[in-house]
Amino acid sequence: MTETEPALLSLAHLTKSFGDTRAVDDVSLDIRANEFFALLGPSGCGKTTLLRSIAGFEQPDSGSITMPGQDGKPDVDLRALPPERRPINLMFQSYALFPHMSVEKNVAYGLERERLGKSEVRSRVGEVLDTVGLTDKAKARPAQLSGGQRQRVALARAIVKRPRLLLLDEPLSALDRKVRAEMQLELKRLQHEVGITFVVVTHDQEEAMSMADRIAVMHDGRVQQVDTPVDLYQRPANTFVADFIGSSNAFQGTRQPAGVDVPGLGLLPGLPGGDGTGEAAVLVVRPEDMQVVDADRAVLTGEVLDTQFFGGRSTIAVAVPGHAAPVTATQQGTADVVRGARVHLAWLPDKGVVLRAQE
Ligand SMILES: Nc1ncnc2c1ncn2[C@@H]1O[C@H](COP(=O)(O)OP(=O)(O)O)[C@@H](O)[C@H]1O
Ligand SMILES: [Mg+2]
Repeated sequence: MTETEPALLSLAHLTKSFGDTRAVDDVSLDIRANEFFALLGPSGCGKTTLLRSIAGFEQPDSGSITMPGQDGKPDVDLRALPPERRPINLMFQSYALFPHMSVEKNVAYGLERERLGKSEVRSRVGEVLDTVGLTDKAKARPAQLSGGQRQRVALARAIVKRPRLLLLDEPLSALDRKVRAEMQLELKRLQHEVGITFVVVTHDQEEAMSMADRIAVMHDGRVQQVDTPVDLYQRPANTFVADFIGSSNAFQGTRQPAGVDVPGLGLLPGLPGGDGTGEAAVLVVRPEDMQVVDADRAVLTGEVLDTQFFGGRSTIAVAVPGHAAPVTATQQGTADVVRGARVHLAWLPDKGVVLRAQE
């Protein structure tokens, strides 16, 4: 995927309500050909409704869903097409396999319904089982497979129809942690290998970050930011994104040219990026940018409440007088401070992200 890759799918001002609930609220997005795109947000923010609208199982109230025409051809208005005529496949959150059918029959089912010839079906099923690494399980029944293997069968079934766009709704949520990590890599490899554009829905930010080329963060039916994982993390557009992606220390105050003036704590350094001196603002500092320093460099001073060891790194939580939440700092290896110690904290000004306060 490159920046110049054309849009495969364009959503413009898409809105869908259920009664008083705006499940999808004025969503505009471009999904590029061959990208691995993630829709990320908390439960209930509208991810499934958006996916179902793209697939055609939900009728939006307003807005457009188009595939821009290539080589001078006109745009395709997907809203005018029933689900089965859209070049799209949706893999449901609960991907039910047929329990009485073998793996290969499960995968072949959709192709047989399209009345493809027997030999064509056989070769395509064989190919796709090879792609997902299940050739030796072709004759097995779903009950004889592990969770991860069943997931692969569902993927094979979705890919074998060669959609241009594959939509996956929380595809890995049924798997335990370790298998999930494996399948994240597997999904990424698959997407690359088969050259199909993937849109994966997840509420798990680490999952989205580990797989996607770009991520749309959603909240209350609205897209908050669309960016690469790195840009979302380093340049969150608002406090929701900063809070949802990774962990962060947030300080409320008023915007100043060199940072944010926080009552009780003073001027905390940050890069404002924009004007609006005096307006309500939040300064966000990631735990890994929060450094333990000597007294002469201190921006904040407090007492160590707790240290936690996570294997390769440790987190220390510091009680800073005048600030309600503990301030957290991540260190490589084991923490070099002990509980109860007095510590000084500081960060580089360009590691302080200044955002407009949200009500
Ligand atoms: N068929 C429906 N009828 C009524 N409300 C619905 C329906 N589908 C979704 N909703 C509501 O729309 C909102 C978004 O739901 P959904 O798209 O399932 O979110 P997500 O997939 O992000 O968890 C929620 O408030 C949900 O309760
Ligand atoms: Mg959902």
